[in-house]
Amino acid sequence: MLEPAGRVAMVSGASRGIGRAVADRLSRAGYRISAGLRDPRAAPDGWYACRYDAEKSGSEEAWTAATLDQFGRIDVLVNAAGINPMARFLDPDETAFDALMAVNVKAPMRVIRAAWPHLVASGSGRIVNIASLSGKRVRNDNAGYAIAKAALISLTQAVRREGWEHGIRATAFCPGFVETDMTAHVTKQPREMMSRPEDVAAVIETLVRLPNTASVAELLLNCRHEDML
Ligand SMILES: NC(=O)c1ccc[n+]([C@@H]2O[C@H](COP(=O)([O-])OP(=O)(O)OC[C@H]3O[C@@H](n4cnc5c(N)ncnc54)[C@H](OP(=O)(O)O)[C@@H]3O)[C@@H](O)[C@H]2O)c1
Repeated sequence: MLEPAGRVAMVSGASRGIGRAVADRLSRAGYRISAGLRDPRAAPDGWYACRYDAEKSGSEEAWTAATLDQFGRIDVLVNAAGINPMARFLDPDETAFDALMAVNVKAPMRVIRAAWPHLVASGSGRIVNIASLSGKRVRNDNAGYAIAKAALISLTQAVRREGWEHGIRATAFCPGFVETDMTAHVTKQPREMMSRPEDVAAVIETLVRLPNTASVAELLLNCRHEDML
């Protein structure tokens, strides 16, 4: 397993939910955290926090440059920022669809691109893209969310291919319901029967600490039984 000491982890969406739990876990494990946040004041003491808005092109460059200025290296990137407005495919208004593709697909791609040379320089760069079981099958009307998460899984595969010889290992992490603000409206599954962000974070810590010889392409994590998932 890779030792966290000295390693730098960029985490988007670290203001709350899964990203917050991941940054908290990695920080306690000894990683130096660079949190990318729309409001950097949302970060607790001890994290380096930088303004990052997934809807603003160029924001990823500023976050990456600031992280390098602060720490001089980047070893881990966890793309956790995400949204899930309803986007039915029969709806002619594509506003929500476009927002889903911008925040859940293009933004992680841009952060990866910005951080790439530094992840290469690390020799053991790690990327975790928080996709979803919704990227593996469609169980509700939000086709836009499912399409975006499937695209994020494909992006992860592209990253694995390009990054392999440089020691970069990437994982598409695909949870089902996790008890966060994003699932506050969900009635299909009692909240106490949803996965906990802390448990998601524990798995992600293991993923980013695995050596180059133990690569996990996709990890599916469910809080209920579904055939095959
Ligand atoms: N919860 C689930 O059941 C579940 C299941 C599968 C996958 N996921 C995925 O896991 C990831 C985290 O979800 P969550 O459950 O933790 O959701 P959440 O509690 O709603 O948190 C969403 C996070 O994304 C950030 N974010 C949203 N839009 C942003 C933007 N334009 N720029 C920068 N940050 C932005 C939010 O920041 P602000 O505080 O500034 O709004 C917040 O930190 C998402 O990609 C989601 O799709 C969640």
